Parts: sequence; structure tokens; C-alpha cells
Amino acid sequence: MDERKMIYIHPAPVRVWHWINAVGIVLLVITGLQIRFAEMMNLFSLEEAINLHNYIGFVVIGAYGLWASYYFGTGKIKLYFPNPKTFICDCKTQIQYYGMGIFKGDPNPHEMTPDNKFNALQKKAYLTIMFILLPIQMITGLFLWRIKKFEDYIDLLGGIKIVDTIHVILFFFFFVFVFVHIYLSTLGHTPLAHMKAMFTGYEEHH
Ligand code: HEM
Repeated sequence: MDERKMIYIHPAPVRVWHWINAVGIVLLVITGLQIRFAEMMNLFSLEEAINLHNYIGFVVIGAYGLWASYYFGTGKIKLYFPNPKTFICDCKTQIQYYGMGIFKGDPNPHEMTPDNKFNALQKKAYLTIMFILLPIQMITGLFLWRIKKFEDYIDLLGGIKIVDTIHVILFFFFFVFVFVHIYLSTLGHTPLAHMKAMFTGYEEHH
């Protein structure tokens, strides 16, 4: 018998944060490309692109505050931490599934529950992004927004060229990440299942 039940996996603050963040990052990538390759693109004037980039940057920083308040405030941040004892083995199993099992119709080795919603690879990726890469991108963005004001910190990091290079490298990372992340999010029991869950909060459990 086909046993299905709906499990509440993404609480409202996570969904609100996620979609503000997703739209924000996509817009930051587009306006960032316009700023970086001003002579090759013509979507906005340079001034418009810079202004939009700055405003959206602050929206993404504000949304990050919502994510952090929710996850740290409720103690649910532990969802992001892998179990050190089983982590390597869990990663191998998940890689085997994505590389082979999925094409043979094997079931996903990770069972999603509200207390353990991410598989080992998601934990590794999301932890790196939310704890390291996004904060670095926000801080370097702030420094580039008001260079004079943050002069001392910029010097501490080795100068404006270093800060700019870090910001641009991470910008390319997020550009690629969005495509990989969207592809992986289509690997649920139907291509739109995870996407739907990120809107409704409920994931169908088989
Ligand atoms: C248009 C772009 C995006 C789409 C369509 C999308 C879609 C999704 C979907 C369907 C999920 C739930 C399934 C899963 O965990 O894989 C998810 C979760 C997640 N996404 Fe995205 N995403 C996008 C952009 C981003 C960006 C730009 C970031 C970070 C910079 C991001 C970070 C995350 C994180 C951390 C989670 C787990 C959230 C949680 O449950 O705590 N996403 N995304």
C-alpha cells in the first residue's frame, strides 16, 4: 500500500527568509554582473545597478538576521550540524545515491524528518554557506559600500583589492550555486516536490 503523510518541515520564518534570500541573491548576481561587466551589459545604468545592488544587499542582510534569530532562538540550528561519528559514511552513501542509486530508482538513503531534515551533503553545503560564505559576502559587501568608513578594517584584511577579490570570487560561487541548488532541489519524489514544500512548509513523506 502507498503510505503517504504530510510532514511540516519548513516553518514560516524559514520559508520567508529563504524566498527573500533566493530572490535577493539572484538580483544581486544580475546587478553585480552589470556593475562588473558594465561595458558588455545594458540592463541598467551603472548608477542604477550600484543603487539596486546596495538596497538589495541590505534586504539580504536583514533576511539573514531573520534566519539567525529563528534558528538560534529556537535551538533548531543543530539541524545544520552533521553527526561527526557518521558524517563520512553518510556522505559516501549520499554521493552513491546521487551518482548511481537515483538512476536505478533506489530510495533516498536519507529519511527527511523535522528533526533531521538535511542529508549529510546538504548539512555540509548549507553549514558552509550560512556560517562562512554568506557572512563573508555580507561583510565584504558592507566594506565596499563605504570604503572610507571601514578603511581600518579593509587595511586589516590586506587592502581594498583583497576585499574586492574575495567579494567577486564569492559572487561567482553564488552564481554557480544557484544552478546546482535548483537542480538538486528537483530530485524529490517529483521534480517540484521540494520546491512546493519550501512554499507550503509541508513535505510529502512516503
Ligand atoms: C531561485 C533560487 C533558489 C531556489 C529555487 C531554491 C530552492 C530551494 C528548495 C526547494 C529548498 C528545499 C529543499 C532543500 O533543502 O534542498 C531550499 C533550501 C535551502 N536553500 Fe534554496 N533555493 C534558491 C536559492 C538559494 C540561495 C541563493 C541560497 C543561499 C545563498 C539558498 C539556501 C538554501 C538553504 C540554506 C536551504 C535550507 C533551508 C532550511 O530548511 O533551513 N537557496 N532551496
